[in-house]
Amino acid sequence: MKALVLCGGKGTRLRPLTYTLPKQLVPVANRPILHYVMDQIRDTGIAEVGVIIAPETGEKIREALAPNPWGFRFEFILQEEPRGLAHAVQVAEGFLGEEPFLMYLGDNLIGESIVPFVEEFNRNDVEAMILLKEVEDPRMFGVAAVDEAGSVRYLVEKPKEPPSNLALVGIYLFSPAIHGAIAEIEPSWRGELEITDAIQRLLERGRKVRSYILKRWWLDTGKKDDLLEANRVVLDELVKEELRGEVDGASRVVGRVSMAEGVRVRGSTVRGPVVIGEGTVIEDAFIGPYTSIGRGCTIKNAALEHSVILDNAKVIDIERLEDSVIGRNALISKCTRNGRALRLMVGDDAEVLL
Ligand code: G1P
Repeated sequence: MKALVLCGGKGTRLRPLTYTLPKQLVPVANRPILHYVMDQIRDTGIAEVGVIIAPETGEKIREALAPNPWGFRFEFILQEEPRGLAHAVQVAEGFLGEEPFLMYLGDNLIGESIVPFVEEFNRNDVEAMILLKEVEDPRMFGVAAVDEAGSVRYLVEKPKEPPSNLALVGIYLFSPAIHGAIAEIEPSWRGELEITDAIQRLLERGRKVRSYILKRWWLDTGKKDDLLEANRVVLDELVKEELRGEVDGASRVVGRVSMAEGVRVRGSTVRGPVVIGEGTVIEDAFIGPYTSIGRGCTIKNAALEHSVILDNAKVIDIERLEDSVIGRNALISKCTRNGRALRLMVGDDAEVLL
């Protein structure tokens, strides 16, 4: 079995961060989302991974995967235009050949292993398997109608009247029969070749498609609040206490805090779960739970909580910053005191002087 990881798309919902960073590389607990995807694929034992890249962001995706701690054989496949998920499979046909494959959207994070999902596919004689998750409002996703035994009856992409509240998670397993189905579909109203339509075509031809319902969380990190939520959940579950860096006698570090090399904490309180990247300086500050601070940041005379601070950002003289995402190299500072809590989403290289 091979894997196909999709790293195209424009990431419009996470602008301005995604003006300079592909959405798959937005960090959650200081690691790009794409690295969690690769961890999941490694656990299945798959060794060959095709990565669909777009002309605008392909180079950054390659760089992020270059250290390759997973030991994969990567093949990077250029999709010139974002013409849909099924189009991406078409572009990858040469790489995929006649093998079954796991398709994984590079910006999807889930809270459980995909190994049982892959095993179930291998045990059953089916042409496709889809991963589903119950959601409150399924209208912005692909939606499935399934019977009690887990067999899929039909699928619709972004329905106005959803047949169930089971959304298609961006993780799929396919036999080579999917290629024939893709060849038979037409672009949707949004001008894309939809993988949902190709799976529906398999069903119409009488082929079997199974479903697997995700029990734990699924985070579609499409927007600021989703990103904060993903950060919160991952910090809660995955952060291990690791104190490298230097903490002076006037500081208190409590709970699960992961601090990289070269971090300096002076006169501050850090209350986990928190991650702090290499070389960041924290001075006369309070860092509250569910905060991720990237590399080379300066947090001085400030209080932060439930926020994501990207590399080389500075937060200085801010009484309280909550529920915020701060882009790389951004400066948040204040000239006068007596402020109240701030809620911001600031893009890369922005400067906010309050
Ligand atoms: C795509 C799929 C949709 C699926 C979603 C999961 O949507 O078309 O069926 O539910 O990914 O993230 P898109 O992100 O292209 O809107």
